[in-house]
Amino acid sequence: MAEEINNQEDLLVMLDSLLREPAPFWNSFYKDREKNIPFFVNKPDENLVRYFDAGMVKPQKVLELGCGPGRNAIFLAEKGCSVDAVDVSEQSIDWAMERTKKCGIEVNYILEDIFMLQVEEATYDLVYDSGCFHHIAPHRRVDYINLIKRALKPNGFFALTCFVQEGNLGGSSMSDWDVYRKRSLEGGLGFTDQRLRKIFSEFGEIEICRMKDAAKTDNVFGVSGLWTALFQKLEPRI
Ligand SMILES: C[S@@+](CC[C@H](N)C(=O)[O-])C[C@H]1O[C@@H](n2cnc3c(N)ncnc32)[C@H](O)[C@@H]1O
Repeated sequence: MAEEINNQEDLLVMLDSLLREPAPFWNSFYKDREKNIPFFVNKPDENLVRYFDAGMVKPQKVLELGCGPGRNAIFLAEKGCSVDAVDVSEQSIDWAMERTKKCGIEVNYILEDIFMLQVEEATYDLVYDSGCFHHIAPHRRVDYINLIKRALKPNGFFALTCFVQEGNLGGSSMSDWDVYRKRSLEGGLGFTDQRLRKIFSEFGEIEICRMKDAAKTDNVFGVSGLWTALFQKLEPRI
């Protein structure tokens, strides 16, 4: 590939090249399924369960970004949603498929980088992201937001969980510029609630709050080192 910058996409690809490639990293991350990683448990996020229980969302068609081993996709399918769940790691998709088969339900898993995803406009009632966004480099954020806006139906919902800045799970507080100086996301970027509001200002905010800690015996996943946020796609004013 010629190392030339002739357009915006060339610039993004050059910036990608300064950082680690996601697929090899995540494939090796998922090789050992017995590792003590909090989100390896097969339980849905407490906030996602709450959105359903409280009737805050009633989605039929859902897109999950960075679905990992499928714990939230499985919950959504069990709730009767038609779920497209995307991840760049083959290891995670294999694991998710095994788990889903055991539950006797169906999820459409897609092995793909979210930035290569072909999404039909206005298809989904809910786009869900648990823990993928904080691994997205700042120069890809505009594409990330455009993907969500394109994927959602009018008034559709977007929900995410991401690291609290310098929270008990990490969540780097470095600036966006430092990502490129250090050529690293330092294990995942951390956010404040104000920063999330600014990044997702094109959406209507329904709530931004800390995830509630869940006990080992609970049937939900909950760690207070994460933000949970629920937004709604706003329709342009005429
Ligand atoms: C912290 S894990 C969370 C997995 C899952 N959502 C969960 O909570 O159990 C982040 C996931 O995002 C995926 N990911 C990171 N960058 C991605 C990209 N550009 N496209 C698709 N998936 C990506 C990784 O492979 C990984 O499975």
